[in-house]
Amino acid sequence: MKTIRTKGYNIYFDNTSKLQEFIGKKNPSSLVILVDENTEKYCLHHLIPLLNMEFHIIKIKSGETSKSISTSEYIWKKLIEFHSDRNTLLINLGGGVIGDIGGFCASTFMRGIDFIQIPTTLLGQVDASIGGKTGIDFLEYKNIIGSFHKPKAVFIFTDFLKTLPPEELKSGYAEMLKHGLIADTDEWKALSHGLLMSPIEMKKHIFKSVSIKKRIVEKDPHDIGIRKILNFGHTFGHAIESKWMSSKKPLLHGQAVAIGMVCESYLSYRSGQLSESDLFDIRHSILDIYGHQPKYVKPVPELLQIMQHDKKNENGEFHVVLLEDIGSAKKSTPIKTNALEDAFHFYQAKL
Ligand SMILES: NC(=O)c1ccc[n+]([C@@H]2O[C@H](COP(=O)([O-])OP(=O)(O)OC[C@H]3O[C@@H](n4cnc5c(N)ncnc54)[C@H](O)[C@@H]3O)[C@@H](O)[C@H]2O)c1
Ligand SMILES: [Zn+2]
Repeated sequence: MKTIRTKGYNIYFDNTSKLQEFIGKKNPSSLVILVDENTEKYCLHHLIPLLNMEFHIIKIKSGETSKSISTSEYIWKKLIEFHSDRNTLLINLGGGVIGDIGGFCASTFMRGIDFIQIPTTLLGQVDASIGGKTGIDFLEYKNIIGSFHKPKAVFIFTDFLKTLPPEELKSGYAEMLKHGLIADTDEWKALSHGLLMSPIEMKKHIFKSVSIKKRIVEKDPHDIGIRKILNFGHTFGHAIESKWMSSKKPLLHGQAVAIGMVCESYLSYRSGQLSESDLFDIRHSILDIYGHQPKYVKPVPELLQIMQHDKKNENGEFHVVLLEDIGSAKKSTPIKTNALEDAFHFYQAKL
């Protein structure tokens, strides 16, 4: 059973006895578990036998709309109702939504209580639970209110993925592909053939993916420099995700990021860095896994409008993270509007 040590906390893999030992040593005044209806149904019964103390449960509705101030109020109220104090331990049992809002509520309740992350989605395991960013959405802005508040530990149990819907698995896989593209050529090569792998292989790659994210975050914990390369694929991805957010068939985050990675690889090629063969290799692999969905990449003017609100933009200029090569990325580069349009068209084209 492997462990990754980071500055401030450890990430344990498939280690139930470590979880029991952690809670035993910590000896919190009380234990509160945050779940949504799916993690209550599929995950909670695996956790309960490992806890040898009383606990309370806070259940919120699944989905991004729960990452709100009103749900935060609900969680704070419940914490008060359960007589939580500064030595209460909050356990976030769920995907990135539970991890983000649970971390945010923990960081603000009584000026900060301890929490641990038990991510139950692939995206949560390889991305959201790592790095100490917590937050909620406010008005129409995603993650606009939040804090840096590290968990006391992260416990990854890959068996939780058995009940995850395949689309959610694919969504998380996009972040693993991203980690390969920005930082590890061999990892990209191994993952670019698709999701068909044994559970043992999957565990190996989850570990690898977490190691990559951990390495990048530790170089820049407050996201002022190199950590921004984790946004590769996200400038386009966020715009596409926002555009379709309230439609009948919204795109999952990772699906939008997958399209975004194709567009941003095109810009990397156009800026003279990525080779043409690598560009087509990326496009081919991503379209193989996620399908070709040009209908989501329209209308381009509306998508560009949304991209104007991207946090990376500076002085009214669009800034995009580019690949230097497969396995290496650089912070972000100013890009002209016509190049962005061409990048959308590169994705749309039937080649
Ligand atoms: N803090 C960070 O650094 C960071 C990084 C990336 C993403 N995020 C955030 O993560 C969120 C997305 O996370 P997500 O993709 O995990 O979504 P999610 O938390 O909404 O989970 C996806 C769905 O899977 C269900 N689910 C969870 N575990 C399950 C299981 N084991 N079996 C069956 N169903 C299960 C959930 O109930 C939900 O319906 C976004 O809000 C995003 O902003 C945060
Ligand atoms: Zn992402």
